Amino acid sequence: MNRKLAIGLVYNLKKPPDEDIPIDAYAEFESVETVDFISSALQSLGYVVEPIPFQGPSILNMLQNSAVDLFLNIAEGLSGNRNREALVPAMLELLGKPYTGSDPTTLGITLDKVLTKDVVTAYGIPVPKGRSLFNPSSQEQFQLLQDFPCFPLVVKPQWEGSSKGITETSLVKDSAALWAEIQRINTIYEQPALVEEFLPGREFSVGVVGFGNQLQVLPILEVVYPEKSLTDFVYSYEVKSGNKETLVCPATVEPSLAQQLRELTEKVCTVLNCRDFARVDFRLDHQGAPRFLEVNPLPGLSRDSLYPRQAYAAGMTYPELLDTIILSAMERHSKKSEAKSSGELA
Ligand SMILES: Nc1ncnc2c1ncn2[C@@H]1O[C@H](COP(=O)(O)OP(=O)(O)O)[C@@H](O)[C@H]1O
Ligand SMILES: [Mg+2]
Repeated sequence: MNRKLAIGLVYNLKKPPDEDIPIDAYAEFESVETVDFISSALQSLGYVVEPIPFQGPSILNMLQNSAVDLFLNIAEGLSGNRNREALVPAMLELLGKPYTGSDPTTLGITLDKVLTKDVVTAYGIPVPKGRSLFNPSSQEQFQLLQDFPCFPLVVKPQWEGSSKGITETSLVKDSAALWAEIQRINTIYEQPALVEEFLPGREFSVGVVGFGNQLQVLPILEVVYPEKSLTDFVYSYEVKSGNKETLVCPATVEPSLAQQLRELTEKVCTVLNCRDFARVDFRLDHQGAPRFLEVNPLPGLSRDSLYPRQAYAAGMTYPELLDTIILSAMERHSKKSEAKSSGELA
């Protein structure tokens, strides 16, 4: 009888709330329910699951000593550094062990919203105009108001995800609010604040599975927030954690816009070399044209997260989604091993 394949599930677990740290400190980490949900889905597919929580440097030994066939990596990494999502894939590269998802370079670039926009802009993808500031001098403040003479603007951390640092006050309508928000981000999140022109249109998110020429674009999802007009809406931590939004998938979108969103998604993922799974966020500008906000190569995988909902709309069950991600990674690794053994790769 064939041995069951073993999957190492690498994740960060949420910790109990603590008064000394921001309320959204663990926004990107997994709840026990999500880890259990993923493990059960993997078991239902016939995989043996080895849970590997990332709690500190001991992870290196855990990865090294593990004999699993593939690591399903959803770890966001520890500390607030912009390379934190790249840590586990970098260790697995060092150990020569196969894993799902994008490589450390992609994860490093995409966590940094400024770098990501610079890269995709070079390939003609439209983005909101932005400028990043850390404790701006009066000269930098003066320059900012020259560059962005019109309000409203959005202020967000340069390298966070899951709406960390994005709250009701992130949409600023005058310079006093702008300076207060920049200072809030610089102080609490200890990183530059990215100031962007506010895109007042509909918000869409588009997922992919697979990689390279087998990349499959999933149905388009729209984030709808019934309580506010779009011109006052940001998908903040409060909205996300309070489940106050409605996620519509597939979204009702005219065919030409749908085509544009799909093509932009494919291009972003190709340019940045996103593999196996990813989700790209867009918003429409004043003219109704889509602009790229950011890409998530480690999209949330809890049962009701945006990414799984896109897969459900494509007709996949949750276990089928995980299996598609795993098979995509396995196929890539088996091709790499074949190429190595036939001497194509050094
Ligand atoms: N330039 C912008 N214009 C309009 N809304 C924005 C802009 N940037 C961010 N937002 C709002 O804030 C939300 C979170 O921003 P995003 O860049 O996607 O960060 P995160 O990584 O936290 O998801 C978006 O989903 C959107 O609603
Ligand atoms: Mg986002």
